[in-house]
Amino acid sequence: MSNFISIKNPINSFNSNISVAGDKSLSIRWVLLSSMAIGKSKAYGLLESDDVKSSLKAVSRLGIRIKKTKNHYEINGVGINNFLIKKNTVIDAGNSGTLARLILGVLAGSEAEVKVIGDKSLSKRDFERVIDPLKKFGVKIINKKKGLPLKILGSNYLRPINYLERIGSAQCKSCVMLAALNTDGKTKIKAEKSRDHTEILFKKIGVPIKIKKTKKFDFIEVTGKKNFNSFDYIIPGDISSSSFFIALTLLSKDSKLIIKNININKTRTGIIDIIKKMKAKIKFINRKSYMGEKTADIVVKSSSNLKSIDCPSALNSRAIDEFLIIFLLAAKSKGISFFRNLEELNQKESPRLKIAINFLKMLGIKVVKNKNIIKIYGNPNLKLNKSYVIKNFRMDHRVFMMSTIAALTLGGNWKIYDKESIKTSFPSFLKILKKLGAKFN
Ligand code: S3P
Repeated sequence: MSNFISIKNPINSFNSNISVAGDKSLSIRWVLLSSMAIGKSKAYGLLESDDVKSSLKAVSRLGIRIKKTKNHYEINGVGINNFLIKKNTVIDAGNSGTLARLILGVLAGSEAEVKVIGDKSLSKRDFERVIDPLKKFGVKIINKKKGLPLKILGSNYLRPINYLERIGSAQCKSCVMLAALNTDGKTKIKAEKSRDHTEILFKKIGVPIKIKKTKKFDFIEVTGKKNFNSFDYIIPGDISSSSFFIALTLLSKDSKLIIKNININKTRTGIIDIIKKMKAKIKFINRKSYMGEKTADIVVKSSSNLKSIDCPSALNSRAIDEFLIIFLLAAKSKGISFFRNLEELNQKESPRLKIAINFLKMLGIKVVKNKNIIKIYGNPNLKLNKSYVIKNFRMDHRVFMMSTIAALTLGGNWKIYDKESIKTSFPSFLKILKKLGAKFN
């Protein structure tokens, strides 16, 4: 089987309902927290992607028993810091920054040394951002570079900390919250805004937590060493995976799509706010609440009159994984779009900001980067007729998916490599595209 797809024709109009894969952030959090709970937890709709499989493998290395049945996963939790860790244990986080950073928090109380490794792309990413607070707790980290591999040696006698999270990274915040579970006492966090799934889960499963939200910061206080019971979870669809289908519909003619049961947590819906400002025809129906989270069906229609946006930086962390696809929409909209302070995108699975700018330039779109400002000169009449080859993007799943949507909506003759990258977050991506009538081989 080849490792690329060829696309020669835009997708025809469609009118359909789809479900996308389960939310990645929630799936990984369920795996880690249910391992620390007491008793058997079940998850339905768990995302079956490489990042989540790495998470399941990781907790099994800590002695956790996992069972997969036809329609759900079961994890037998052992309580906080009660893992059975063998000598020379190695955890391979694969491509998952979320797993790698969060598991360090989980392991903070463990007195057996564990080595954490990752794939080439993950190994290059910044771990100092979690190593620093972990050291404050009293955790020992042995590392040679600022990325992976590293060794972690926790302690049963950690001290709670006061921590200022400045990046707006949910991974850093969650790592500290998980480490806090291993301490006697209260850990206090002042965090820039970022997704709050860990906070919501802590509250729902009975971890003592206090949260105060102000306009700019969230203040979180976690009390450790209090065991909690197992919990079941029905994982809703992932808005980040949905975003590719949202863009596909917006940029296709006479099309309509309903994407069922998506997590619409406010910290994740920046893309919706952004594209609404761009005049996208999109709305939520069937709103529900579940386990402290909000869900809805997303209804989206073709929108041939997209307008440019001056994107407020306050939306950055709420749309952090969606900027590749947002940039593509900006390229096809009327006027000049402005985005600011998005350097953090270069810290993702690939240097996404650099890749996106080169990508748009390749399509003939004028992009100007001046310090922290990016200007995209949109062209609503953008139609492509050349040949395009997309490769060497460090297997970044979202680069692959964004390129595929560009190919299916803008014309041209495309060859997009590393199709197996979708296994990271959205293995059924191509299957769903086929269902909608996309032609590729
Ligand atoms: C995630 C947080 C974000 C996001 C990632 C998932 C999480 O990363 O980009 O895909 O589940 O906590 P940062 O915390 O590094 O911004």
